[in-house]
Amino acid sequence: MKQLNQADISALRRDNRLSEAIGGQNLIYGCMNLASSWDDTPLTDEQAARGFSTIEKALELGFTTFDHADIYCRGKSEELFGRFLAQQADRFRESIIIQSKAGIRFPDDGGEGTPGRYDFSPEHIRSSVEGILERLNCGYLDLFLLHRPDPLADIPALGRELRKLQNEGLIHYVGVSNHSASQIQALKKLGEIEITVNQMEISLGHRNLIEAGVLINQNHGDRALRSQGTLEYCMSEDIQLQAWSPLFRGRYSGGAADLSESEQRLRDYVSALAAEKDSSPEAIVLSWLMRHPAGIVPVIGSTHSGRMAACAGADGSLLSREEWYQLFVLSREEPLP
Ligand SMILES: NC(=O)c1ccc[n+]([C@@H]2O[C@H](COP(=O)([O-])OP(=O)(O)OC[C@H]3O[C@@H](n4cnc5c(N)ncnc54)[C@H](OP(=O)(O)O)[C@@H]3O)[C@@H](O)[C@H]2O)c1
Repeated sequence: MKQLNQADISALRRDNRLSEAIGGQNLIYGCMNLASSWDDTPLTDEQAARGFSTIEKALELGFTTFDHADIYCRGKSEELFGRFLAQQADRFRESIIIQSKAGIRFPDDGGEGTPGRYDFSPEHIRSSVEGILERLNCGYLDLFLLHRPDPLADIPALGRELRKLQNEGLIHYVGVSNHSASQIQALKKLGEIEITVNQMEISLGHRNLIEAGVLINQNHGDRALRSQGTLEYCMSEDIQLQAWSPLFRGRYSGGAADLSESEQRLRDYVSALAAEKDSSPEAIVLSWLMRHPAGIVPVIGSTHSGRMAACAGADGSLLSREEWYQLFVLSREEPLP
């Protein structure tokens, strides 16, 4: 994997150059399913042991950034990671980058009958950050992300709270997830907060951000056009774009049995490219994202050691311009306009 290693990150951190360490990542390990179960039963020793091996495998493969959210496995993924951190040497924490997110609340959280909702109130954001740090068993987050836009957010108050959390050293950088260009602009202007990262769903099966730029002057493609300008805005504002569900849950790399004819054509082409390049279908699917000049950083969610290793082989330079376009056209199921 071509990216900064743990020693590089420690050195940059000591030189107060953490933002360069964040910017130097090509792949991130996503901890959404690290603890295996989303029910509200406590973490078991067996789940913890399995999760520890997954983290060890990720480190061995060269992953140095770990993506969390307070809701993943209902807090158990963070708790598991925190137990892992507790067993490491003192300097280990500074050699990796940890990011987590908050702002999504489950139904019944806060009283029976309360709906699933988003909550960027200063009180909720502060208590979420404190809960994340307690579960992760560490003193600071390198990056804190607002998980999904909250229409009721009081943006100036949110910005003040985020700056307070930064001044207290609990979070270093702030990012967002699932936010449009204009929502980020509002956070920057009204909330007076710098945004370092935007984590979006981007993959061959979810191409909106990339496709919007192609469909701008066409009569169709309204779905893609919803995200018009977000990718270009992030590029021009130096906001790192991270891609969640980058394998589209394995649909084009062997993880689905119910493919349509056109999906099968895409999957066959992915397999042929993998064979030709002595690579893997996973690496081809991820390389399609990494070949884009926006510097898209896939967040890998597999907990299967073989698939994790296959993902680690991804590299934008694997694909020629023509191969990139062929994958794009096959995934669109129609030629480019
Ligand atoms: N910001 C957000 O709103 C948001 C939302 C969702 C996710 N995320 C982040 O993005 C990360 C990745 O998301 P994701 O897990 O949905 O990504 P993904 O890479 O698209 O999908 C990985 C999932 O697909 C399965 N899969 C892949 N290939 C397969 C195959 N050939 N056969 C069987 N199963 C296969 C994996 O199972 P195995 O484990 O068995 O390989 C795993 O459950 C998460 O961990 C999280 O950090 C963020």
